[in-house]
Amino acid sequence: IAGPVREHFPLSPLTTFGVGGSADVCIWPASTQDLVTLVKMKEDTSLNIIGGGSNLIISDGDIKGFVLCTKYLSSFSLFRKNNEVDIEVGTGVSLGVLVSFGLRYGFSGMEFGIGIPGTVGGAIIGNAGVQGETVSDVIQWVEVVDESGEVLRFKKEELPWGYRRSVLQERNYIVTACGLRLQAKDPYWVKEKADNFLQKRKSQPRGFKSAGCIFKNPDGESAGKLLDECGCKGLRVGGAIVSEAHANFILNMGDAKAADIWALIEECRRRVFEKTGYVLELEVRG
Ligand code: EPU
Repeated sequence: IAGPVREHFPLSPLTTFGVGGSADVCIWPASTQDLVTLVKMKEDTSLNIIGGGSNLIISDGDIKGFVLCTKYLSSFSLFRKNNEVDIEVGTGVSLGVLVSFGLRYGFSGMEFGIGIPGTVGGAIIGNAGVQGETVSDVIQWVEVVDESGEVLRFKKEELPWGYRRSVLQERNYIVTACGLRLQAKDPYWVKEKADNFLQKRKSQPRGFKSAGCIFKNPDGESAGKLLDECGCKGLRVGGAIVSEAHANFILNMGDAKAADIWALIEECRRRVFEKTGYVLELEVRG
């Protein structure tokens, strides 16, 4: 393995929520080949993947097995066509890099990602998006490593995509890279579109450790609105609190444990179910 390998490595600094215990072994694969080697040698050892750590609640105890951090799978190449550009990116590239690329050179398709932390791989796994626009709109292909260590490449059409959902997670694939296609547009138009997306996030809390929205929106409803109407804002367990600004955000007030966050999630879910009948589904992963 070419990338760094560390034992008993604290994981909370690798997440935006800032909770979680230490990994027995934390590894930063430096290439797809590193990943293949790890998958082939793991035998019964469990593999957990961390991308940008922005949609993740890592549990408080020691994390057994290998934790693989995708940060250095960060290749980036461009293939310009007439009015389009095809970009091949490694799974560890941050969404911000793609947003900045589009803004600087006037290419449209990733504006929705403005202000969203996290990596390309995480965005693909959860089909990240904002109000109708998602990463699956611009994807051309996805490269993964499967459970036997085989490298596979799928065209976008070969993989079902849904709201905050892809099949990659269900199939236990590790995303290594993908191809995206962006459209050439007037740079001022791209900037205005990105600014509009940023505007939509103004009601969300800033300056706190969190994992963005905790729950998915049920069909035709807003989880934040339901949670608000059920009196969840301000609920607190230990160091975790439901944001007063947006009820679908849980904030780490500094000393939260993963267990506090899970207890708060359960309380919120219970309240919403009892009052409205909706069973809220998690957007974050545990
Ligand atoms: N609302 C309330 N109270 C609240 C929160 C929201 O009444 O505490 C109301 C709002 O006033 C609005 C409606 O609910 O009328 C929808 O709220 P908002 O516009 O904030 O959108 P959302 O559905 O809560 C979705 C995404 C966000 C994304 C915003 C961009 C999901 C689960 N959430 O939020 O994504 O940033 O749209 O507008 O799809 C994330 O994925 O982590 C995330 C935060």
